[in-house]
Amino acid sequence: MKEDMAYILLTREQLAARVRELGQQITRDYSGEKPLFICVLKGSVIFYADLVRAVELPVQLEFMTASSYGSATVSSGKVHVVSELDDKIKDRHVILVEDIIDSGRTIAFVKSDMLQKGVKSLKVCSLLDKPSRRVADVTPDYVGFEVPDEFVVGYGLDFNQDYRNFPDIGVLKPEKYQ
Ligand code: IMP
Ligand code: MG
Repeated sequence: MKEDMAYILLTREQLAARVRELGQQITRDYSGEKPLFICVLKGSVIFYADLVRAVELPVQLEFMTASSYGSATVSSGKVHVVSELDDKIKDRHVILVEDIIDSGRTIAFVKSDMLQKGVKSLKVCSLLDKPSRRVADVTPDYVGFEVPDEFVVGYGLDFNQDYRNFPDIGVLKPEKYQ
Protein backbone atom coordinates (compact mmCIF):
# COMPACT_ATOMS: atom_id res chain seq x y z
CA MET A 1 0.00 0.00 0.00
CA LYS A 2 2.88 2.34 0.78
CA GLU A 3 3.78 2.66 -2.92
CA ASP A 4 0.33 4.21 -3.55
CA MET A 5 1.10 7.13 -1.20
CA ALA A 6 2.56 10.44 -2.35
CA TYR A 7 3.84 10.89 1.22
CA ILE A 8 3.16 9.92 4.82
CA LEU A 9 1.42 12.72 6.69
CA LEU A 10 1.23 11.13 10.15
CA THR A 11 3.24 8.16 11.34
CA ARG A 12 1.87 5.43 13.61
CA GLU A 13 4.09 6.81 16.40
CA GLN A 14 2.64 10.32 16.04
CA LEU A 15 -0.87 8.88 15.98
CA ALA A 16 -0.30 6.75 19.09
CA ALA A 17 1.18 9.65 21.06
CA ARG A 18 -1.67 12.01 20.19
CA VAL A 19 -4.36 9.40 20.89
CA ARG A 20 -2.82 8.89 24.34
CA GLU A 21 -3.06 12.64 25.00
CA LEU A 22 -6.69 12.77 23.87
CA GLY A 23 -7.47 9.84 26.17
CA GLN A 24 -5.88 11.64 29.11
CA GLN A 25 -7.78 14.83 28.36
CA ILE A 26 -11.11 12.97 28.18
CA THR A 27 -10.24 11.13 31.40
CA ARG A 28 -9.82 14.48 33.18
CA ASP A 29 -12.90 16.10 31.62
CA TYR A 30 -15.25 13.21 32.46
CA SER A 31 -13.90 12.40 35.91
CA GLY A 32 -16.58 10.63 37.98
CA GLU A 33 -18.76 9.93 34.91
CA LYS A 34 -19.33 6.94 32.66
CA PRO A 35 -19.37 8.38 29.13
CA LEU A 36 -20.90 6.58 26.16
CA PHE A 37 -18.52 6.48 23.20
CA ILE A 38 -20.23 6.21 19.83
CA CYS A 39 -18.12 5.04 16.92
CA VAL A 40 -19.20 6.58 13.63
CA LEU A 41 -18.46 3.68 11.28
CA LYS A 42 -16.44 2.75 9.46
CA GLY A 43 -13.61 5.26 9.20
CA SER A 44 -13.18 5.86 12.92
CA VAL A 45 -13.02 2.21 13.97
CA ILE A 46 -9.23 2.01 14.39
CA PHE A 47 -8.97 5.38 16.15
CA TYR A 48 -11.93 4.45 18.35
CA ALA A 49 -10.41 1.16 19.49
CA ASP A 50 -7.19 2.93 20.46
CA LEU A 51 -8.93 5.94 22.03
CA VAL A 52 -11.27 4.06 24.38
CA ARG A 53 -8.30 2.11 25.74
CA ALA A 54 -6.50 5.38 26.49
CA VAL A 55 -9.42 6.54 28.67
CA GLU A 56 -9.04 5.53 32.30
CA LEU A 57 -12.71 5.61 33.22
CA PRO A 58 -15.57 3.15 33.03
CA VAL A 59 -17.03 3.69 29.57
CA GLN A 60 -19.65 2.08 27.35
CA LEU A 61 -19.45 1.54 23.59
CA GLU A 62 -21.98 1.89 20.79
CA PHE A 63 -21.72 2.02 17.01
CA MET A 64 -23.54 3.81 14.24
CA THR A 65 -23.27 4.31 10.50
CA ALA A 66 -23.30 7.79 8.99
CA SER A 67 -21.77 8.88 5.76
CA SER A 68 -21.99 11.73 3.30
CA TYR A 69 -19.53 10.21 0.84
CA GLY A 70 -20.33 8.09 -2.15
CA SER A 71 -17.36 6.47 -3.80
CA ALA A 72 -15.88 9.84 -4.77
CA THR A 73 -13.38 11.93 -2.86
CA VAL A 74 -15.79 14.85 -2.59
CA SER A 75 -18.58 15.07 -0.07
CA SER A 76 -22.00 14.46 -1.62
CA GLY A 77 -23.85 16.52 0.96
CA LYS A 78 -26.33 13.71 1.46
CA VAL A 79 -26.09 12.19 4.90
CA HIS A 80 -27.30 8.69 5.50
CA VAL A 81 -27.78 7.65 9.10
CA VAL A 82 -28.55 4.20 10.38
CA SER A 83 -29.01 4.31 14.09
CA GLU A 84 -31.01 2.44 16.66
CA LEU A 85 -29.46 4.28 19.56
CA ASP A 86 -32.40 6.39 20.67
CA ASP A 87 -33.00 4.62 24.00
CA LYS A 88 -29.32 4.10 24.73
CA ILE A 89 -28.26 7.76 24.45
CA LYS A 90 -31.04 9.26 26.58
CA ASP A 91 -29.64 11.00 29.70
CA ARG A 92 -26.08 9.93 28.81
CA HIS A 93 -22.84 11.86 28.38
CA VAL A 94 -22.21 11.01 24.73
CA ILE A 95 -18.89 11.35 22.89
CA LEU A 96 -19.16 10.95 19.13
CA VAL A 97 -15.94 9.60 17.65
CA GLU A 98 -15.19 10.54 14.02
CA ASP A 99 -12.23 9.90 11.73
CA ILE A 100 -12.24 13.26 9.94
CA ILE A 101 -14.42 16.33 9.71
CA ASP A 102 -14.38 17.71 6.20
CA SER A 103 -17.47 19.65 5.05
CA GLY A 104 -18.89 18.95 8.51
CA ARG A 105 -22.23 17.86 7.08
CA THR A 106 -22.10 14.35 8.50
CA ILE A 107 -21.35 15.33 12.05
CA ALA A 108 -23.68 18.36 12.00
CA PHE A 109 -26.55 16.09 11.01
CA VAL A 110 -25.76 13.42 13.61
CA LYS A 111 -25.35 16.06 16.32
CA SER A 112 -28.66 17.80 15.71
CA ASP A 113 -30.41 14.43 15.56
CA MET A 114 -28.92 13.33 18.89
CA LEU A 115 -29.55 16.62 20.66
CA GLN A 116 -33.27 16.10 20.03
CA LYS A 117 -33.12 12.72 21.73
CA GLY A 118 -32.41 13.85 25.28
CA VAL A 119 -28.68 13.32 25.74
CA LYS A 120 -27.23 14.74 28.96
CA SER A 121 -24.26 16.15 27.03
CA LEU A 122 -22.77 15.70 23.58
CA LYS A 123 -19.20 16.20 22.46
CA VAL A 124 -17.40 15.36 19.22
CA CYS A 125 -13.92 13.85 19.15
CA SER A 126 -12.38 13.74 15.67
CA LEU A 127 -8.96 12.36 14.88
CA LEU A 128 -8.53 14.74 11.95
CA ASP A 129 -9.96 18.13 11.09
CA LYS A 130 -9.91 19.71 7.60
CA PRO A 131 -11.25 23.16 8.53
CA SER A 132 -10.49 24.67 5.12
CA ARG A 133 -13.38 22.72 3.60
CA ARG A 134 -16.03 23.36 6.25
CA VAL A 135 -19.56 24.03 5.01
CA ALA A 136 -21.66 23.20 8.06
CA ASP A 137 -21.19 25.29 11.20
CA VAL A 138 -19.60 22.67 13.43
CA THR A 139 -16.41 22.60 15.51
CA PRO A 140 -15.16 19.40 17.12
CA ASP A 141 -14.56 19.50 20.89
CA TYR A 142 -11.46 17.27 20.67
CA VAL A 143 -9.18 17.13 17.63
CA GLY A 144 -6.15 14.96 17.07
CA PHE A 145 -4.60 16.82 14.14
CA GLU A 146 -5.54 19.59 11.77
CA VAL A 147 -4.78 18.48 8.21
CA PRO A 148 -4.41 20.30 4.87
CA ASP A 149 -6.92 19.98 2.05
CA GLU A 150 -5.58 16.66 0.75
CA PHE A 151 -7.26 13.28 0.46
CA VAL A 152 -5.80 11.10 3.20
CA VAL A 153 -6.07 7.36 3.82
CA GLY A 154 -4.98 4.85 6.43
CA TYR A 155 -5.60 4.27 10.16
CA GLY A 156 -9.26 3.59 9.30
CA LEU A 157 -9.69 6.12 6.51
CA ASP A 158 -10.46 4.70 3.09
CA PHE A 159 -10.60 5.38 -0.59
CA ASN A 160 -13.33 3.19 -2.10
CA GLN A 161 -13.06 0.97 1.02
CA ASP A 162 -9.33 0.36 0.50
CA TYR A 163 -6.34 1.33 2.68
CA ARG A 164 -8.21 1.21 6.01
CA ASN A 165 -5.60 -1.11 7.55
CA PHE A 166 -2.60 0.97 6.48
CA PRO A 167 -1.06 1.78 9.90
CA ASP A 168 0.05 5.35 9.11
CA ILE A 169 -1.93 8.17 7.51
CA GLY A 170 -0.80 9.06 4.01
CA VAL A 171 -1.76 11.27 1.11
CA LEU A 172 -2.76 9.13 -1.85
CA LYS A 173 -1.03 9.75 -5.17
CA PRO A 174 -3.45 11.71 -7.37
CA GLU A 175 -3.36 9.04 -10.11
CA LYS A 176 -4.80 6.56 -7.59
CA TYR A 177 -8.10 8.40 -7.33
CA GLN A 178 -8.37 10.26 -10.62
P1 IMP B 1 -18.09 15.48 5.88
O1 IMP B 1 -19.54 15.18 6.04
O2 IMP B 1 -17.81 16.22 4.59
O3 IMP B 1 -17.48 16.19 7.06
O4 IMP B 1 -17.36 14.11 5.64
C1 IMP B 1 -16.92 13.34 6.67
C2 IMP B 1 -16.63 11.93 6.20
O5 IMP B 1 -16.06 11.90 4.88
C3 IMP B 1 -15.58 11.33 7.09
O6 IMP B 1 -16.17 10.63 8.17
C4 IMP B 1 -14.83 10.41 6.16
O7 IMP B 1 -15.41 9.14 6.17
C5 IMP B 1 -14.98 11.04 4.79
N1 IMP B 1 -13.76 11.80 4.43
C6 IMP B 1 -13.59 13.14 4.40
N2 IMP B 1 -12.35 13.48 4.01
C7 IMP B 1 -11.69 12.33 3.82
C8 IMP B 1 -10.32 12.01 3.43
O8 IMP B 1 -9.44 12.86 3.19
N3 IMP B 1 -10.04 10.68 3.34
C9 IMP B 1 -10.93 9.70 3.60
N4 IMP B 1 -12.21 9.95 3.98
C10 IMP B 1 -12.59 11.25 4.07
MG1 MG C 1 -15.69 7.35 5.58
